[in-house]
Amino acid sequence: MKFFIDTANLDQIKEANDLGILDGVTTNPSLMAKEGIKGQEAIFKHYETICELVDGDISAEVVSTRFDDIVAEGKKLAAIHKNIIVKVPMIKDGVKAIKWFTDNGIPTNCTLCFSAGQAILAAKAGARYISPFVGRIDDSGWDGMELIGQIAQIYDIQGYETQILAASIRNANHIIRAAELGAHVITSPLESILALLKHPLTDIGLAKFLEDAKKL
Ligand code: E4P
Repeated sequence: MKFFIDTANLDQIKEANDLGILDGVTTNPSLMAKEGIKGQEAIFKHYETICELVDGDISAEVVSTRFDDIVAEGKKLAAIHKNIIVKVPMIKDGVKAIKWFTDNGIPTNCTLCFSAGQAILAAKAGARYISPFVGRIDDSGWDGMELIGQIAQIYDIQGYETQILAASIRNANHIIRAAELGAHVITSPLESILALLKHPLTDIGLAKFLEDAKKL
């Protein structure tokens, strides 16, 4: 399972990359706004910087919602760097644009997926990634992980090549469950990735080893 970090924060991207386990980055307009990045020039420059930092797939999201505009914006994003994945929302014009990008050799990440039906459409259109938002589904009182399992089963039966990118990760357990259920990728805040490191018995065990090492 690939690990992407879900942030536009360069320090966090560097920290995750330094761990040596990072395979890519996902961003969205909210994450860019959180970093105070404004205007197309600054946004494009920021994507370029991320691409220089991490050698992997970097999702850059379109903010257009009409087919022609999504295609025009996606082409500009894809031209920033060879590793850019054009992130397109799961709407009617988005599906049409994903098919256009697929036919024209531009990889896509279909975002804002909340149902198996949406995941089927994204796969039919040839998206490289489908991003089910597990945390937001949990927040609304449903089980986000159930959707990951359902999509994994459908893609397996149908032989779809689209990769399941479990998004909207809220904790380490989401990452573990995604791995168990066959997600191909998770995209997570740094905090949840680092939480995978933690176990109290590791801390207790290490303290004891270090204490005994002094006797050597
Ligand atoms: C996915 O690509 C999205 O950027 C992200 O995972 C959304 O997460 P959130 O629900 O924490 O905003």
